[in-house]
Amino acid sequence: METIEENSPIELGVNIDHVATLRQARGTAYPDLLEAAFLVEEAGAQAITIHLREDRRHIQDQDVYDIRKQCKVRMNLELAATTEMVNIACDVGPEDGCIVPEKREELTTEGGLDVIGQFDRIKKSTKQLSDEGIRVSLFIEPSIEHIKRVNDIGAPVIELHTGTYANAKGDEQKREFDRIVEATEFAHAQGIHVNAGHGLDYSNTSIVAAIPEMRELNIGHSIISRAIFVGISRATRQMIEIMNDARNT
Ligand code: PXP
Repeated sequence: METIEENSPIELGVNIDHVATLRQARGTAYPDLLEAAFLVEEAGAQAITIHLREDRRHIQDQDVYDIRKQCKVRMNLELAATTEMVNIACDVGPEDGCIVPEKREELTTEGGLDVIGQFDRIKKSTKQLSDEGIRVSLFIEPSIEHIKRVNDIGAPVIELHTGTYANAKGDEQKREFDRIVEATEFAHAQGIHVNAGHGLDYSNTSIVAAIPEMRELNIGHSIISRAIFVGISRATRQMIEIMNDARNT
């Protein structure tokens, strides 16, 4: 089992999908996704996260190959458990592959994977990706029932869906946060590496980053939104600072 040292660092994967969203809105060559990736890398993020969606609404196939070839930091490729996406991921060979549920009509990823109902399909995709040396992460709800199936699927990593926590208010948010803590501790005790993401911003990330067993946060929309005003380098650095401060206090 992985050992977590006291005050161990937490890593940031910046999801740059929405740089591509802006580019695709006009079909222009700008904003340049690679430039965004380089700036995020230079600002100190440990991973570039991108989601190649079935409908190609933002990231395009060529983006995935370009980032893979030119960036030095880890690539965390989010993908649906479909034959097409798993084959592309195996061809690209990112360090990390995060399997997510995907519906065409959704605005963004809604909810975690159904690791119980879709067990066979997710297990098959996990095996194919793992056989290519890709570290597989499953994007799931902070649910003990779901975490219990992760080791049977064979994935070494989970990413806990923080969207419900991020959207909740007051006592409900506190309850959602407690679910994340409980899920993190339970998964960690099973030897599973725990990441989290979705809906995290400059005000709600700190307490999630402070969970000792939490290893990585994947954050996109809030960082890219802030980048409009302060630039992507500063927006990335500010998030890193929040996470490191949370870890060290
Ligand atoms: N993690 C996963 C698995 C996601 O699907 C997304 C959204 O693409 C994120 C993290 C980032 O979410 P947000 O853009 O809300 O920060």
